[in-house]
Amino acid sequence: METPLQTDHDIRQRIWVELQRATHDRHHEWRTPVLATVGADGLPGARTVVLRHADVKSASLAFYTDSRSPKVAELVAAPHASFVFWSKRLSWQLRVRAHMTVQTSGPQVNEVWERMRQSPAAGDYLAAAAPGALLAGASEPPAPAGLQHHLAIVTAQVLAIDWLELARAGHRRAVLTATSFEWRVP
Ligand SMILES: Cc1cc2nc3c(=O)[nH]c(=O)nc-3n(C[C@H](O)[C@H](O)[C@H](O)COP(=O)(O)O)c2cc1C
Repeated sequence: METPLQTDHDIRQRIWVELQRATHDRHHEWRTPVLATVGADGLPGARTVVLRHADVKSASLAFYTDSRSPKVAELVAAPHASFVFWSKRLSWQLRVRAHMTVQTSGPQVNEVWERMRQSPAAGDYLAAAAPGALLAGASEPPAPAGLQHHLAIVTAQVLAIDWLELARAGHRRAVLTATSFEWRVP
């Protein structure tokens, strides 16, 4: 069994190491966090996304989406969101509060698209109809893919991380911001 991390510095560092790993390890449990947003009706909505980037220096995370998906409109209208990550291996939950920005064009989007366009995932961003649009009929074939992609990069500027460690010897919890680390009652 691993020795529990003791210092705030160790915990902060390990959180970001694991987030970074999750962006390139398909089997990492933190690769697919749940993203919670506030809908136009003021009600919460949540869905799974794939973590694509995690950068400790800028304290940012990113995922890709279809610019026409409802969550994009929600994030533009209310740019605050939470990610929830759980790892059984680490026995760690992260609840990450973040300020979100959506990019639908520009050099970064072009660069990601150039990498993605030859991959099977490209089809996700070329669909003729927007995600969530009503299907006209179950027997109707899907409309052919368009040529224009709808890839968007959603970047989360991390404001606070609520870290919870479950352990037989006693649970631990702390809230981390860029400038602070506070132990909390789990
Ligand atoms: C394992 C898994 C990974 C997913 N990854 C993404 C993703 O990276 N980006 C995305 O837009 N949707 C992703 N989805 C689909 C979303 O969960 C959701 O169904 C879709 O984006 C529509 O969400 P919305 O209606 O809230 O916009 C994923 C779903 C699963 C099950």
